[in-house]
Amino acid sequence: MRRGRRSGLYTLVAVHSTALGPALGGCRMWGYGDTRAAVRDGLRLARAMTLKAAAAELPLGGGKGVIMVPPGAPVDAERRRAVLLDFGDTVEAFDGRYVTAEDVGTSEPDMAVIAERTGHVSGLARARGGSGDPSPWTALGVEEAIRVAGERVWGDASLAGRSVAILGLGGVGAKLARRLADAGARLVVADIDPARRATAEALGAQWTTPPEALAAAVDVLAPCALGGVLDEDTVPALRCRAVVGAANNQLADDTVADQLAARGILWAPDFVVNAGGIANIAAELDPGGYAPERAEARVRGVAATLRAVLAEAEAAGVTPLTAALARAHRRLAAAGS
Ligand code: NAI
Repeated sequence: MRRGRRSGLYTLVAVHSTALGPALGGCRMWGYGDTRAAVRDGLRLARAMTLKAAAAELPLGGGKGVIMVPPGAPVDAERRRAVLLDFGDTVEAFDGRYVTAEDVGTSEPDMAVIAERTGHVSGLARARGGSGDPSPWTALGVEEAIRVAGERVWGDASLAGRSVAILGLGGVGAKLARRLADAGARLVVADIDPARRATAEALGAQWTTPPEALAAAVDVLAPCALGGVLDEDTVPALRCRAVVGAANNQLADDTVADQLAARGILWAPDFVVNAGGIANIAAELDPGGYAPERAEARVRGVAATLRAVLAEAEAAGVTPLTAALARAHRRLAAAGS
């Protein structure tokens, strides 16, 4: 963790594991109330990245970058550039053990600024030889996962007529909404940013408040905003049959998986469902470089991973979370030896 000499703002990098490869994880730019909250978030997100890469059988470890901006006060363009350069220096200090990418609050042009200070940047624009913004790929992976949940719960992977509530209509949420609408799903959507309402209306989706979206009577709830949305207060209010979304760290803690199972709600582990973005980035490491066709096949692999996790959970009589953690830990243990 460092205080940037250009911006005066704190940036941090958390490396959770390099057992399977360099620790890859996006850079989150967010208004945290205090540095402890930022550190806690960075550490939790880094662990989730380890599990995600391991469960998806990617040659990557887990890490995360965080840029702490003042809460509620927008950062002007000059200071934004300054803090991105400061973050680039923090990344460079890890000498390749951490590789950054986009996450909440950062975008493809931001990666180009970070790349002025370090070579350990993925998700650069296609024109620069990178794999580009991962969010469309994450959305594709989430769609695949919703279809797999459909197979399990209703014996039908089709999205036509399926009702889905999407919480968070940002980079991933909006692209997921478009994909689901095109496939014939009925959508209820919410975001704390009122500017997203236009996107909802353009899709013919019903716009509502975040608490109402969370408790909507729908087939599937897709959390696509920030983490911690499922806890002992929100789970009893859910009226969906399955929860399948992009947000990292959806559960306030691991015991919430048991509460969801007890209510008969299928929770598809977030780190399995949202691996599409990192699967696309991993294609940058392929011999010969990034090729979208190969990347797409890997992203669609989210379906096979989730199918395997749900089958293992059923066979062992455990929650999908327990089965997914066991899968990730098996792979990490094999690498450790
Ligand atoms: P984003 O920043 O583009 O979108 C997040 C959206 O959620 C914003 O529109 C924001 O206004 C909204 N939001 C924030 N708090 C909210 C709340 N309490 N209720 C409703 N809406 C709220 O971020 P992005 O990239 O779409 O990521 C969404 C989630 O998916 C994050 O948890 C991220 O870590 C995760 N994820 C993203 C990946 C990617 O490829 N971008 C890959 C894997 C996971």
